[in-house]
Amino acid sequence: MKIFSQTIIRWYNKNKRDLPWRHTTDPYKIWLSEIILQQTRVQQGMPYYETFAKKFPTVHHLANAKEDAVMKTWQGLGYYSRARNLHHTAKFISKELKGKFPNEYEAIKNLKGIGEYTAAAIASFAFNKPYAVVDGNVFRVLSRYFGIHSPIDSTGGKKEFTRRAQQLLDKKYPGVFNQAIMEFGALQCVPHNPDCGKCPLKKGCEALAKNKIAELPVKSQKTKVSIRYFNYFIIKKNGKTLIKKRTENDIWKNLYDFPMVETKREMKKPPLNPLLQRGLVGFNSSPSGSLGSTFKHVLSHQIIFAKFWEVVGLNSNLKKPIQRAHKKIIYVSDNQLYKFAFPRLIQRYFEEKGA
Ligand code: ADE
Repeated sequence: MKIFSQTIIRWYNKNKRDLPWRHTTDPYKIWLSEIILQQTRVQQGMPYYETFAKKFPTVHHLANAKEDAVMKTWQGLGYYSRARNLHHTAKFISKELKGKFPNEYEAIKNLKGIGEYTAAAIASFAFNKPYAVVDGNVFRVLSRYFGIHSPIDSTGGKKEFTRRAQQLLDKKYPGVFNQAIMEFGALQCVPHNPDCGKCPLKKGCEALAKNKIAELPVKSQKTKVSIRYFNYFIIKKNGKTLIKKRTENDIWKNLYDFPMVETKREMKKPPLNPLLQRGLVGFNSSPSGSLGSTFKHVLSHQIIFAKFWEVVGLNSNLKKPIQRAHKKIIYVSDNQLYKFAFPRLIQRYFEEKGA
């Protein structure tokens, strides 16, 4: 299938965007960019890439950084396990591998947080090894051009697309081919209403010939979305606010929010009891009501309805034993809050409060 690969590469050389990670073959920088760009658009990811590359110019800088600093730099990007794995793997490469990034596909894929896609991207971009990348863009381009109806979220489908991409790969310039096919999917063969009139591959495109552009690629399962109700408690004292580190295995692990009680339904009254039991508020505490409206926060697999109850009349001196029992709960001066990494939902609360 020479025509396909040649056309894609010719198109790429004419139309590619000038992106910072395309000027380097440093595997560390390429890894960084690919982790940031997973589930993130180029325009959103670019400033994060620039910041990370400047703050942590080598894998040793990243390895030696404090976890809170890494999370703070990642703040706002979402899918925070990416940042935790990035930090974990940086420490592994820095300490165990003495800073030398593995240059074999299998060894790269064995690193925590790196799957087939990222391993192929690093192997081809940094080391010019012949491994085809298969991401959402590649699924779309191949399914349409070759009229492949296998679901992209099935094991068989993934194998079929990977086999096809591997056959098409330009073995001499695998890095260029991989960038080219992804860029083609991002700019020309876009998900909705692509401009097929000006597509250089329109002649051989199965989906265009059979009027199936809108149907491809096929996904077999709908994303399941769960609904959750969060009740946050804003507990303030002498210009300080109680914040809490999220250490559970749940969304936003290792970021900060406020003491919170999750309920099965939306609450009209604040469910204070768990906070009383934990000694976080006193018995004469009363919430002054929830702040304005409920916040609706949409994530890829969850919709969160959050209320922020402001608690007044608390006796919470947070005596030493209680403080020790809740090491992850701290009072922070309002002018120091900016130092902590908060999820977008909490940032939205601060914004609405005008903080
Ligand atoms: N998306 C994922 N990886 C990318 C890359 N290297 N360039 C542009 N977009 C991407």
